[in-house]
This record gives sequence, structure tokens and C-alpha cells, in this order.
Amino acid sequence: MEVIIRPDAESAARLTARLIARAVRQKPDLVLGLATGRTMERVYALLVDMHRADGLDFSRCRTFNLDEYVGLSPDDPGSYHEYMRRHFFSKVNLDPARAHLPDGSAPDPDAESRRYEASIRAAGGIDLQLLGLGRSGHIGFNEPLSALQSRTRVKCLTEITIRENQTQFPDPSRMPRRAITMGVGTILECRRLLMLVTGEAKADVLARAVEGPITAMISASAIQLHPACTVIVDEAAASKLEGQNYYRWIFRTEPEWREFQDV
Ligand code: GLP
Repeated sequence: MEVIIRPDAESAARLTARLIARAVRQKPDLVLGLATGRTMERVYALLVDMHRADGLDFSRCRTFNLDEYVGLSPDDPGSYHEYMRRHFFSKVNLDPARAHLPDGSAPDPDAESRRYEASIRAAGGIDLQLLGLGRSGHIGFNEPLSALQSRTRVKCLTEITIRENQTQFPDPSRMPRRAITMGVGTILECRRLLMLVTGEAKADVLARAVEGPITAMISASAIQLHPACTVIVDEAAASKLEGQNYYRWIFRTEPEWREFQDV
């Protein structure tokens, strides 16, 4: 794992978007794993800018989102389908047929979870998976005690996740209590992971995920098992990391990061 500390949330989002853009240019038929949440909104806006200004081409990409709320139809304003359309899909040249999310309105959410897992496998697996970090330590919606080998399935949300995400709903009482999420095992099979975490409110949980013991209580700690994982954070989120000076030094001195010093 490598941890890259940027001065603020804007430059952390810029670096994240630049790394995604580089991956799309290197492999135009990239299978890209996408994440939702407030932190990612700026990343999508920057990718849209790159599409418009520099012709960043998503036409051959396929995408798979991490999760979707159970009980919401794809056109529900609170759904992640709608989030993705609003922030990204409607603004770039990605064929809607190539953009995948679990269907939260499927009559049998367990069967839908299995179908989603199979569709990732049929696509040849995910090349690059974007991840955020929830206050409960989740990646996707893998709440505490998610098995480290779990696959796509239904999870009950924690109180803190419900509190945090309710603000995204026009009517907070309509926020579902369950979600279909890629499992921790599904995420660990992606060929590369790119996690973006910003803000002081995430500093404690970030330190537990990155430097603490690997535990199902903090599903994000499983990223320590992944051979190709980059975590991009701002100073505020990094404030509780013991190794922060070492991580800064790597970014300043390692040749692979030279072209990103001013991002
Ligand atoms: C939701 C998503 C997660 C995301 C998290 C963080 O819970 N399921 O994938 O990482 O939000 O959201 P925010 O960026 O709004 O803090």
C-alpha cells in the first residue's frame, strides 16, 4: 500500500482524477469500479472536465459501481443510479449499456447480488476500483463484521452510516436501511485499488484502516492485504497517521510520483 498526502481536498481529488485518466488512456477498454458519496463528486467533475477539454474517452470502458440501496428503483432521486447519472454518466461518452450498478428494486435482492457478482466476473474482473471510506470503516457498504472474503450481497447499514447518508435524501426518512454491496472479497480481487479520503472527520477511521490491525470491524483495513493499493488523502484526514512523514517522503522522492508533484 502507498499513502499519498496532498495539502487539501481539491488537490487530493485532482490526483485521483489524474490517475483514473491515466489508466483510461493506457487501457481504453478499462473495467472501472466506481464509488459514490460526497468525496467523489469532485473527482467526477474533474473527469467530466478532462472529457470536455482533452477528449478523455470513456466510450470503450465498462463500469461497475460498488453498491446500491435496497428498495430504490434506478430512477429514484436518492439512488446511486441517479447519483451516477447526475455527476458522471450524463456528462461523458460512456454507453449506458456498459455502466453497471446493482438493481436495488430487484424482487429478490439475494439473486440480484449473485447476478451482479457474476457480471463482474463475466467482464473479466475490475481493473481499477475507486473507493471512499465510510465513518463506520466501510468500503462499499461493508459494515462492521463483513467477512473479509465476502462477495456481493445485502448488508444492513449501521446507525452512523444512516445518519451520515440521510443528508443525501430529499426526504431523510425514505433512506433505506439495507444495501446491495460488492463484498470485501470482491473488492480485493480488483487488480488495483484507489482510495480517496478527505476531511478531519475521517482521520480516526483512516488511521485504523491503514495502520491498525486487519479486522472485520473495519472492513477498509482489508486493503492492507491488496498488492496494489494507493490511498490518497488530504492533510486533515492524514492528521492521525503515525507514518505520515515517511509517506510524504516517498511521494517527494520516488520517480513514479515526479509528474504529480504539482497536482
Ligand atoms: C457511502 C458509500 C461509500 C462511500 C461513503 C463515503 O456510504 N457507500 O462507498 O465511501 O459513502 O461517503 P462520503 O464521501 O459522503 O463521506
